[in-house]
Amino acid sequence: MNNIQLVLNNLEKTKDDFWNISKETGDFIEFLVKVSNAQNVLELGTSNGYSGIRIALALKETGGKLTTIEYWDKRRSIAMENFKKCCVDNIITAKLGSALPVIQNELQNETFDFVFIDANKAGYIKFFEAIHPLLKIGGIIVADDVISHCEQVKPFVEEISKREDYFSQILNLPDGVLIARKNR
Ligand SMILES: C[S@@+](CC[C@H](N)C(=O)[O-])C[C@H]1O[C@@H](n2cnc3c(N)ncnc32)[C@H](O)[C@@H]1O
Repeated sequence: MNNIQLVLNNLEKTKDDFWNISKETGDFIEFLVKVSNAQNVLELGTSNGYSGIRIALALKETGGKLTTIEYWDKRRSIAMENFKKCCVDNIITAKLGSALPVIQNELQNETFDFVFIDANKAGYIKFFEAIHPLLKIGGIIVADDVISHCEQVKPFVEEISKREDYFSQILNLPDGVLIARKNR
């Protein structure tokens, strides 16, 4: 077993303490980043970096980069250590701050082809409104916890489901994962 796999295995053991995505969701996201050939990925909710590492491992193959946002300083520091251990720190920008103002104030010149939403659940609708103009046509949004936190994420799920410029689907992965594609 290589060092990266060891780090991931250890993070999987503490997933409930850091609210990480499940291994199965990680497998899915890593696969999706790879097959969509994503180049510029945004993640909302870094925690200790587990999902960021899964995304970055795929980006090493596509040649892309990741920006991830976390407002809890301690967690961001742990994430940055984990990114180093997995040798993906050179393709990750880990921003400290609240996701919405960071998007509004620091990322307005960027365009993304893949966005993973996993920060506070009641914020999903506002995050979606803020990232929509920055998401390229054909870009993908993945959002975790849409079944486990269905009440909090309802405004987001209802909005994206009824929009004609998005195709979306809820997958029965642990906690429920919404995947959407911006069609136009
Ligand atoms: C579910 S955890 C993220 C887990 C991570 N994506 C993973 O699977 O490894 C959510 C994280 O988002 C952070 N968070 C919540 N709301 C936030 C916000 N509005 N802006 C930035 N970070 C936020 C929390 O501190 C927490 O560490």
